[in-house]
Amino acid sequence: MNGSRADAVSRYLAWAKLHSYARFNLAVSGMVDYPLAELPVRIEDLEIGGTDSYGYKPLMEQLAAKAGVPEECVVYTLGTSMANYIALTALVRPGDEVLVERPTYDPLLTILDHIGAKVCRFERRAEKGFRLGLGELERRLTPETRLVVLCNLHNPSSALSDDATLRQTGEMAAKVGARVLVDEVYLESLFDRPWRSSFHLGPNFVVTSSLTKAYGLSGIRCGWILAQPELVQRMWQVVDFTYGSPVHPAELLAVIALDNLGRVRDRARALLETNRALLNEFLAGHPELDCEPSRFGTTVFPRLKTGLATDFVGMLRGQFETSVVPGEFFEQPQHFRIGLCGTTETLRGGLERMGAALEAFCKLTR
Ligand SMILES: Cc1ncc(COP(=O)(O)O)c(C=O)c1O
Repeated sequence: MNGSRADAVSRYLAWAKLHSYARFNLAVSGMVDYPLAELPVRIEDLEIGGTDSYGYKPLMEQLAAKAGVPEECVVYTLGTSMANYIALTALVRPGDEVLVERPTYDPLLTILDHIGAKVCRFERRAEKGFRLGLGELERRLTPETRLVVLCNLHNPSSALSDDATLRQTGEMAAKVGARVLVDEVYLESLFDRPWRSSFHLGPNFVVTSSLTKAYGLSGIRCGWILAQPELVQRMWQVVDFTYGSPVHPAELLAVIALDNLGRVRDRARALLETNRALLNEFLAGHPELDCEPSRFGTTVFPRLKTGLATDFVGMLRGQFETSVVPGEFFEQPQHFRIGLCGTTETLRGGLERMGAALEAFCKLTR
């Protein structure tokens, strides 16, 4: 049995917070901040303290209505980060076998390490566009598997898993008595096609998400977990010893943001549409990179065909003022992640420099 690891750290988060900055920062995966001044916020609408210990009632109602679930299936959290921590802490005991996709968002592994779970992996294959492969999953499920963990959209590739695939995932997990945790933080950025949370696909689904990435509202930290009521009870007990009581001004701001989500969404959708066209033009013109055109989400995860991607990423940042996320943080060192959710000027500038860097790098490695 694995012991719990109090010293577990996410090398990725440390890098992202301290070392990812560059003039052209394409390492981000969340929409550029929505300006507070564009929300109808009046100081009279804010208050320091509230009275609802388990989530401000109007906010809980809004979150439940948004997801189309009863309120007793919702836990309010500070971002998807805390949603993942609370959900995993409530679902997993030390030594439990947990099956996690590869590549994945590194902090999910860190939390499981911290809990002392026995982590097993199933592959999403680059040559298959990182799509969720049921065969891969089936091969790795065992009678000991307690939980399957995946992201939809997938981080880093933004691959979308459809309802049929996810439903089958849930059924396969249910056969061995396992639950499925789906981190849906990037699903919120699917502005151009209707979708419903995978929570609706079966009783063994638990979902985490937030308003942070898709809308440029990261600072409000409005996140949530969707789970069956008996699990929700357990999760609120974890909340008791993590954030304790909610940050009431943030709850009030979240209600205002949700009341005005249409305009927030319009701005994000327009920016992503422009940026996606720019990025796809760039990808089409750079055969040195192996990458399907971007269709969904805020990131792509190309593979550099020749030379070491780590060297290329270093050169891009050191000599061309542009940062991307090195693939090593996703256990895929020959790839790197490009974010398309900054301002259009940042993306355009970054891609111009990436083009120049690729030319210089390919000359060196020829
Ligand atoms: C898959 C995934 N989940 C959760 C998070 C954290 O989200 P939040 O900002 O809502 O805490 C990230 C951030 O990059 C992410 O990529």
